Amino acid sequence: MTPDLTELTLIRPDDWHLHLRDGDMLKGIAPESARDFGRAIVMPNLVPPVVTGQQARAYRDRIMAALPAGSAFRPLMTLYLTEETDADDLIAAHDAGIVTAVKLYPAGATTNSASGVRDFDKVQPVLERMAEAGVPLCVHGEVTDPDVDIFDREAVFIDNVLDPIRRRTPGLKVTLEHVTTQDGVDYIRDASAGIAGSITTHHLIINRNNLFAGGLRPHYYCLPIAKREAHRVALVEAATSGDPRFFLGTDSAPHADPAKESGCGCAGVFSATNTLACLAHVFEAAEALDRLEFFTSRNGPAHYGLPENEDTITLQRTPEPLALPAKIETGAGPVTLFDPGFALHWRVKDTPQEPAQ
Ligand code: NCD
Ligand code: ZN
Repeated sequence: MTPDLTELTLIRPDDWHLHLRDGDMLKGIAPESARDFGRAIVMPNLVPPVVTGQQARAYRDRIMAALPAGSAFRPLMTLYLTEETDADDLIAAHDAGIVTAVKLYPAGATTNSASGVRDFDKVQPVLERMAEAGVPLCVHGEVTDPDVDIFDREAVFIDNVLDPIRRRTPGLKVTLEHVTTQDGVDYIRDASAGIAGSITTHHLIINRNNLFAGGLRPHYYCLPIAKREAHRVALVEAATSGDPRFFLGTDSAPHADPAKESGCGCAGVFSATNTLACLAHVFEAAEALDRLEFFTSRNGPAHYGLPENEDTITLQRTPEPLALPAKIETGAGPVTLFDPGFALHWRVKDTPQEPAQ
């Protein structure tokens, strides 16, 4: 790799796990993803959740209406799996190109997941139909048992829930989303086929110490929670390795500041605006800039069986640190942008540094 690389052109990236919300929040934050990304897998955890093909179509229309004029960004919709999911509706929505994947939230795992699955046997017939029809399953991989320590919930989920589901549903294509542990990385690497993992921007940068550095840091609180440093290092190793089973899913999840800076703050880190700058920093530090494109733009489409984007973006190294706003102002309130804790020196060329308000 060229040591003095100052420009890097990539196939336009996609975000394989994104929260776009609805209403004024959607209007405020959709341009932040549309600026750099070609497509995103859009999470269905609205209130109420997106559970039918018709709801997914209507949500997709609201997202398209919130995009800047002329934007080529394409939302890839998901359905929220519940114990009542109608498999016929789901398969029909997938066949019609409305729904790309289905999201499994264990009930109570995270923000707006009350409708999630309690009894995994109840969704088994739906999972079997999905396997037959080739519909991918996106998984929030944490158990919700309050007796399980919050830092162990991913590892326990893999053993107690995910592995049994995969064993009894051969052919089901699974994304273990926002992998946060060495255990998750190892599970994906050891699997013979049918599973990949998305990794967020922030889990490549922060560990659990950052949550408490000099005080409680609500803007670093997300689920799955950041783990100890050895896990972060394992994630960086997986992301920068070029291994086709790992790709970007930012899990950018905006909440207005008062909902984060509260006695019971919401989980979610908002990183859509500066994700590519952060990733270029991480990959540069790992001497892996030549593998960034696999993580942002190639491995995800390959897993989902979709073509890569046809256009490109160019990242440019700048001597001056990027001047990004601390917050994005939206009609639903200000949203604090993820602070990586270091200066950013990679910008997406021809992109205004000040995001459009
Ligand atoms: C997400 C949200 O706010 O919707 N929060 C988070 O911490 N990641 C929910 C989720 O996908 O877990
Ligand atoms: Zn999420």
